[in-house]
Amino acid sequence: MAITDHLPRYPLAFLPTPLHSLPRLSAMVCDELQLPPGSRAIERLRSPRGLGTASSFQLLIKRDDQTGLAGGGNKTRKLEFLIADAQAKGADVVLTTGAIQSNHCRQTAAAAARAGLECHVVLSGAPPPQPNGNLLLDHLLGAKIHWTARENRPARLAELTEELRAAGRRPYPIVLGGSDPVGASGYALALEELWGQVRALDLKLDAIVFASSSGGTQAGLVAGAWALGWDVPLLGISVDEPAADLKAQVADLATRTTNHLGRPHTFTAGDIRVDAEYLGGGYAVMGDLEREAIRLLAQAEGILLDPVYTGRAFGGLLDRIRRGAFEPGQNILFWHTGGMPALFAYARELTR
Ligand SMILES: Cc1ncc(COP(=O)(O)O)c(C=O)c1O
Repeated sequence: MAITDHLPRYPLAFLPTPLHSLPRLSAMVCDELQLPPGSRAIERLRSPRGLGTASSFQLLIKRDDQTGLAGGGNKTRKLEFLIADAQAKGADVVLTTGAIQSNHCRQTAAAAARAGLECHVVLSGAPPPQPNGNLLLDHLLGAKIHWTARENRPARLAELTEELRAAGRRPYPIVLGGSDPVGASGYALALEELWGQVRALDLKLDAIVFASSSGGTQAGLVAGAWALGWDVPLLGISVDEPAADLKAQVADLATRTTNHLGRPHTFTAGDIRVDAEYLGGGYAVMGDLEREAIRLLAQAEGILLDPVYTGRAFGGLLDRIRRGAFEPGQNILFWHTGGMPALFAYARELTR
């Protein structure tokens, strides 16, 4: 029995998502990152072995960019629980909020379409002359789009919810990133899925690395690890928050998620691993770190990252490898959380 079996779930994702090794990247990374000759990490990276061998250093990837819902991504797993909750509460319209290139809003619009619910999204900024990337997909998926200043998003979402209610509708507001205990349950279940995959391969994972922003993905993974009794290190690379803030946020949400799962546990900030060394020019500002990571993974393995989240997180992981943060013999898993449609909104920065 899965740890979320008692919770209502609306199927949206193609699961399990693939887990596979990155053999060419492991070989190329020595040249691309100019690791100093003679480092033990290089020797391990030069001789990647097949998936399942625990004796060699290897990079692996969990493909949540392939969840299958209108371009995929991590929000699909959260939305399986959020849409089911909306339906259980009799909602006929869902609302959420995000940045202009929000992957979360795009997947919410797709999930709502699948479930036959109306969808409103509150985006920050003003409409551009020509929508592209995720915003174009929001339009195609039939979302009703509302614009406001970034700092005004929660207030506008609350106001819109009241307007819909006053008009006789049954609205279900979803917080930024779907990061509440209902949404985070999707990542507790995801960790259980991965646990099954690694056990079937008789593989020991030494670290799981991923992008962390509104904290729901990390909180769900942390809650899932607690429920399963799996003590694998879960390292969130912060996309926009200082480490102390994100750790506190994740600890609080992980605590509330274990309550929601019926396996209560209290986490403190000290239990949460976050690296906030890669915030660069700020949220959604793409720099050399992201550009290099996107090109490297694309050209080594034919896998596309995104400019805002996974580009930053994978760039951070590569930098940590360069700085010798991992030991030879370790198996490091990068959890790809999606976001590819946003690449098209960064064509200028990516072709520089
Ligand atoms: C592609 C991608 N990766 C990672 C994240 C971060 O996930 P979370 O907000 O659950 O921390 C997001 C959030 O929007 C995302 O779109």
